[in-house]
Amino acid sequence: MAVQDAIATIVTETPAETEAVGRVLGRALVPGDLVNLQGDLGAGKTLFVKGLAASLGYDPHDVQSPTFTLVHEHRGERLTLYHLDLYRLDDALAEIEALGFEEYLEPEDAVTAVEWGERGEPALSRRRFDVVFEVLGSRRRITVYAREIEQQRIEELQQAFSKLGLERTGGAGGGRPT
Ligand SMILES: Nc1ncnc2c1ncn2[C@@H]1O[C@H](COP(=O)(O)OP(=O)(O)OP(=O)(O)O)[C@@H](O)[C@H]1O
Ligand SMILES: [Mg+2]
Repeated sequence: MAVQDAIATIVTETPAETEAVGRVLGRALVPGDLVNLQGDLGAGKTLFVKGLAASLGYDPHDVQSPTFTLVHEHRGERLTLYHLDLYRLDDALAEIEALGFEEYLEPEDAVTAVEWGERGEPALSRRRFDVVFEVLGSRRRITVYAREIEQQRIEELQQAFSKLGLERTGGAGGGRPT
């Protein structure tokens, strides 16, 4: 897998800011997009999905952690949003197949947000955003990577992230999702 450059590195100071970053990405999503959220427990993945959901026309209060249910489906409004959490899968690839989750992880006319998606990495759509969260005390460093996403969308997103005024340029971030 080639090392890829981050399209944005953003540091948030509050949960509301993290949700706002999710809203910006949510506005850019189109059917077939997968958002893979990577980061430790409590890093802010579910909170970010609340922001995504708000931009897709859903009530963020309806977004709860799918840790135990594995998948939540938000249907109607603008675009169906699937929200998955693979944390509890022991043998993720086998269970993804057994549960028939491939359609969520390679969405066609919906958008999927998956927490702990790296556990089933080979099953993830190659076209996706990887969003990596690092916990820095009460701050979160959020690094966004785009895989097989059209350059024009990337540029529009970068402008939208910049408008938030939270972006760190140079030095910070780096690395790549594993
Ligand atoms: N800057 C910040 N951004 C996001 N969350 C923050 C921030 N500061 C504190 N928090 C807190 O961190 C927690 C993030 O919880 P969240 O459920 O979104 O994590 P998660 O990554 O989904 O965890 P899990 O892997 O358990 O599903 C919340 O309690 C939130 O209030
Ligand atoms: Mg979560």
